[in-house]
Amino acid sequence: MNDIDESFIRIDSTVLRRTSIHDMSFILISSTLAAAAVVILLKLHGTRNIDVTSFILKYVIVPSKIFIILTKLRVTELLRPKSVVRVKTANNFVFTTIPYNLTLSNRILEFEVRDSDVFVVTYPKSGTTWMQEIVWLICHNADIEASKQLALSTRSPYLESVDVGEHLGFQALENWPTDSIRIMKVHRPHEILPHGVSVEKRGRIIYVARNPKDVCVSYFHFHDMTFSLPKAGTWDEFLTKFSNGDVSVGDWFDFTLKYWKESQENPDKIYFTTYEALSQDLPAQVRALAKFLGKDLRDEQVEAIASHCTFASMKENRSVNYEKMADIAAFDFSKTKFMRKGRVGDWKNYFTVNQTAAFDELFERRMKGAGLNMQFEI
Ligand code: A3P
Repeated sequence: MNDIDESFIRIDSTVLRRTSIHDMSFILISSTLAAAAVVILLKLHGTRNIDVTSFILKYVIVPSKIFIILTKLRVTELLRPKSVVRVKTANNFVFTTIPYNLTLSNRILEFEVRDSDVFVVTYPKSGTTWMQEIVWLICHNADIEASKQLALSTRSPYLESVDVGEHLGFQALENWPTDSIRIMKVHRPHEILPHGVSVEKRGRIIYVARNPKDVCVSYFHFHDMTFSLPKAGTWDEFLTKFSNGDVSVGDWFDFTLKYWKESQENPDKIYFTTYEALSQDLPAQVRALAKFLGKDLRDEQVEAIASHCTFASMKENRSVNYEKMADIAAFDFSKTKFMRKGRVGDWKNYFTVNQTAAFDELFERRMKGAGLNMQFEI
């Protein structure tokens, strides 16, 4: 056997560093130029701004892997919004959000709603992904094999996002075939949902609430994972921001209670459930959801959906665990996994005795008379 030529395999770290810097500046410059050329061409062609954004994301940013490189170098940290903003929307509602979410705001109000539409609505970190997968399976004959073929973000788009490759959003929903059901993810207050659903009451809403202490903990970790949100700060600082509604999507109490009230008034249009109820008896929830959606499921289909949708199973399932989101560097998994703990009561590992007392007092005061009980442990 030949000796290995040492000089061939030894890599000089300075050269390596220089090469990677060179590669990076090449990628940076070429993708900026390519993006600029694409913008000019598309604008000359009269293309809408959101379609231009999607086009660039899909054909320039994603293939160049530029965000992945920038995330590794921590450069994307510079893109983080400094804080949330409070804005008044076209229908005079004051909304707390990140600037990016404003791009589509008015268009979402006018989004054309179909009678068959299903909106999976939540305050972030309340079990949205979990519910999207359950609802998709209920509406597609519990076809688990089919569910694994496509990412959940392709099967159930995010209404408030532009399309980014296989992560579908607003445009895909606008162009969705009319003979196929749209199951959409939404994180916005009832006041600024599309008028077609909030005022004209077309389509159906499935709302998942989660106890706000666990939401706060999950949201705290999520801020670390994505540079699209402002820095979380320390746990103490984040809890203060969350309690004051100074986080993207705003005040948990206002958000949740409005949907609760709407569900009481329109029970055939809004199915209101909780993360804790899903955790306690998933098959019972699948049955109730199927009934709400007018779908007949056999017992073995209910069982199949429930066992496919356990935390352990979803954590390993690449079609739902958002690992593919790393492709567009939307999530930095070196911090935490999207499927983090999936438990009721993790808040006990974070809230001090004083923080618990203060939050309990806030909870009592804000929820008084609403008739909505939340479980903080099961
Ligand atoms: P944790 O961070 O507490 O683990 P969303 O989809 O709204 O962003 O919510 C994410 C939260 O739901 C995360 O909570 C995630 O782990 C949890 N989750 C996702 N799928 C779940 C499942 N099948 N069972 C229990 N929890 C789940």
